[in-house]
Amino acid sequence: MVGEVTPTIQADAEQLAQAAADFITAQVRANPHLSILVATGNTPMPTYAELARRVEAGDVDFSRATAVQLDEYLGIEDDDPRSLWNWMRRSFVEPLGLTRTVRLHSPGQFGAAIRDLGGLDLAILGLGPNGHLGFNEPPSPPDAPTRTLALTPASLESNRAYWGVAVPAGAITAGMDVILAARQTLLLVSGAHKRGVLHAALRGPETPEVPASFLRRTALTVIADEAAWT
Ligand code: GLP
Repeated sequence: MVGEVTPTIQADAEQLAQAAADFITAQVRANPHLSILVATGNTPMPTYAELARRVEAGDVDFSRATAVQLDEYLGIEDDDPRSLWNWMRRSFVEPLGLTRTVRLHSPGQFGAAIRDLGGLDLAILGLGPNGHLGFNEPPSPPDAPTRTLALTPASLESNRAYWGVAVPAGAITAGMDVILAARQTLLLVSGAHKRGVLHAALRGPETPEVPASFLRRTALTVIADEAAWT
């Protein structure tokens, strides 16, 4: 039986970013070669901006760390504005000065790259409004592998909001197996619209219907703002 997890609660999204940046900074200071699975989405952007400020100030160094892509739409060109690879590069890789990256092209290539890294040290994750992690859509069991899949209507809608135009119907995601094997997991959750799904993930039953519920099997840190929890 996996126990309940209580998040660290921050007053607002800005305080959340400070706390998350503190956590990530400590990890990379302890292990400069940190391999990091990097979520895009809105939630972690203030955290990445805060990390960039710390890098700029010379407080922390990510130059020997590796950024690993979490998910991507299928069938888009490299210069497509919706590219999640480019979003990760713009928001994390370039401003933090990383020189090593793993792009998610195919399940076989990705699995080999993760093995070469010796596994993931840290997975930075957001929480999908339907409980997904990356694009592990419900239902996703804990052994769901890296794969291509069709996005659910809920994710098509939430992802459309990023770009103001429709996103492709298909995606590739790092598997639940890869995410759950990370040595540390960090889940960032902000906003009242995530409150129900966050409570389901941390307090409800472990279920493929809420893929994030399986994070309780990992060395999990959850940082949420008050709107997402209380
Ligand atoms: C998206 C992405 C996830 C992201 C999640 C939450 O669909 N595939 O990687 O973490 O949903 O996004 P947001 O932080 O914008 O709420």
